Amino acid sequence: MRIDVVSIFPEYLAALDLSLIGKARQDGLLDLNVHDLRDFTTDRHRTVDDTPYGGGAGMVMKAEPWAQALGSVAEAGTGDGVTPDAETRPVLIVPSPAGAVFTQAMAYELAEEKHLVFACGRYEGIDERVLEWADERFDVRPVSLGDYVLNGGEVAVLAMVEAIGRLVPGVVGNPESLVEESHSDGLLEYPVYTKPSSWRDRNVPDILLSGNHGKIAQWRREQQLQRTAARRPDLLEKFDVSQLTKADKAA
Ligand code: ADE
Repeated sequence: MRIDVVSIFPEYLAALDLSLIGKARQDGLLDLNVHDLRDFTTDRHRTVDDTPYGGGAGMVMKAEPWAQALGSVAEAGTGDGVTPDAETRPVLIVPSPAGAVFTQAMAYELAEEKHLVFACGRYEGIDERVLEWADERFDVRPVSLGDYVLNGGEVAVLAMVEAIGRLVPGVVGNPESLVEESHSDGLLEYPVYTKPSSWRDRNVPDILLSGNHGKIAQWRREQQLQRTAARRPDLLEKFDVSQLTKADKAA
């Protein structure tokens, strides 16, 4: 998968050199490129922002540097320097508190794409005409990390690239670890324990030491349901009950 990130703070994305995502880059599973938006300006001061039409606080990111930067990465992604056609359009993710909320389902969907481009806005956002212009070249998706406001898109990109990148085949060594985790089946994950079995007078639940795999699976399912009901009842409302066994329902 190819990923391009455009930002005025490329250093922010240095964390993507670390851990599993860093290794996936080294192994050639993720071709991740970070670009400095200011490299696409033409004035001496490398200006990327200006005052908002209509007044108001803060600054707005200028359209032309964004068009230059995004045009360049779209063409680079085709490998032959031409504008991509409708079938090979990259997905342009624009992190914004005004976007659709990022979910695990979205991460799975985006992990299937060949080319993702992330446009990190700062200040009050990017001139709206950039998104209209980009609509002809990209599958444009404004995406929010959640209902709160960050200072810019970079932190959101770190989170999204990690959530998407780990679903790309080969990135996580043992793909089974992707199966039983929070949100993979619409429920929160069950609690986990490791040695020692007794620690500061607290014991690991007996069932986990029993070796009875059927009972352990059943216990974990109950824990998932209890936890989800206590912490995220909204998820339980959306949960597909046909996934439950008779024993789950009894619990
Ligand atoms: N930029 C600012 N706030 C954001 C949020 N909540 N999600 C994604 N990008 C953002």
